[in-house]
Amino acid sequence: MKSSRLSHKDEATEKAATEQEPKLKPSRRSFFHRVGLGALFAAVGGQSYGLFRSLVPNVLYEEPRRFKVGLPADFAEGSTFLDDRRVFIFREKNTYYAMSAACPHLGCTVKMVNLSEPQTVEIKGKSVEEKWEFHCPCHGSKFRCEGTNYSGPAPRPLDWVKLEVAPEDGQLVVNMSENVNQNFRLTV
Ligand code: FES
Repeated sequence: MKSSRLSHKDEATEKAATEQEPKLKPSRRSFFHRVGLGALFAAVGGQSYGLFRSLVPNVLYEEPRRFKVGLPADFAEGSTFLDDRRVFIFREKNTYYAMSAACPHLGCTVKMVNLSEPQTVEIKGKSVEEKWEFHCPCHGSKFRCEGTNYSGPAPRPLDWVKLEVAPEDGQLVVNMSENVNQNFRLTV
């Protein structure tokens, strides 16, 4: 009798489980369905990106190293800083020269600092009167008015870069790829 009662109980449990099963089954199925769809979309997305990427050339868009900066007459006597190009253009009457503003330590942009009073300094055995200096805001390197490093971690002077005149329109052309020495002057 006992076993028959148990079997009734078992039957009831089984029945209940069977009744519940149709409710559980679709949700489990839909879960796997969703996972499958997700994996499919991920795979298709990855493949599409790969295909799209293969159509775009692997080009590094760098600033051109040789560029026009305007007519010589447009530059005022003294210095002009071209922020976007990180270069100083200097004019002394009809002569011109250019200095890169990239710090030779780790490449930060140096700032020109006007001195409150001109000071006379020794640069490579010559007495030079300077009215400004260059200071690097990153690690404190300092440079004389003509770019010679004298304090901080910068291992060398600021680069002087070549200036030319474009034959077609007379504009000044800065060539950042070509360094020149500190005697360089372009006469226009
Ligand atoms: S980048 Fe100029 S001192 Fe370090």
